[in-house]
Amino acid sequence: MPHETPQPPHQRPPRRPQDTRPRSEVPAHVPTDEEAARHATGKRTGQGHFAGNLSREELLKRIARVDQAGEYGAVRIYQGQLAVLGSKSANVGVLRHMLEQEEEHLATFDRELLKRRARPTLLTPIWHVAGFALGAGTALLGEKAAMACTTAVEETIDAHYQGQYEQLGDDDLPLKATIAKFREEELEHRDIGYANGAEDTPAFPLLSGAIKAGTKLAIWLSERV
Ligand SMILES: [Fe+2]
Ligand SMILES: [Fe+2]
Repeated sequence: MPHETPQPPHQRPPRRPQDTRPRSEVPAHVPTDEEAARHATGKRTGQGHFAGNLSREELLKRIARVDQAGEYGAVRIYQGQLAVLGSKSANVGVLRHMLEQEEEHLATFDRELLKRRARPTLLTPIWHVAGFALGAGTALLGEKAAMACTTAVEETIDAHYQGQYEQLGDDDLPLKATIAKFREEELEHRDIGYANGAEDTPAFPLLSGAIKAGTKLAIWLSERV
């Protein structure tokens, strides 16, 4: 009789401990020279783009302010979804993965604000509440509605980052490379949303349209206030 090795019972992979580091300790992405050089176009920041009558310095402050606000909102959305769905959710792994990436994005723009001597938007307390409420509210509608929230927000952020990418020039290659990397990650989040049934949520076009409109308004306000 052949010797059979007893198989261990099926085990779930060990759960990653929740990230409890304070935001200031989450490492920010610092692009390598090679990464930055890949995005060179021979243009200067703002060249050939309508950016109102903002100076380069003002434009960079505005970018840091709105992106810090957006990433702050994104962290709050995923925190809200995790607070409602918690460890019961089949999607807890992907939700935590997305939250961790948003925390890294936020840490990066926290540093950008400091570097540019720019203040955060005055609306931060609103995004604190509204982001969490959006995440928790869609999660209460169900796992798929939570994913519909993700696809709507991330598609809006994709277009936003693409717009900024096109305004940045070779004088700001590290920031440009950072935005390119984060945009890729937001697209990964969008794909996670679609792969997990976002479009199966009832009234998907209505819900998605409303969230996109809200996200665009939040971007518009955070650039100005
Ligand atoms: Fe992000
Ligand atoms: Fe994201």
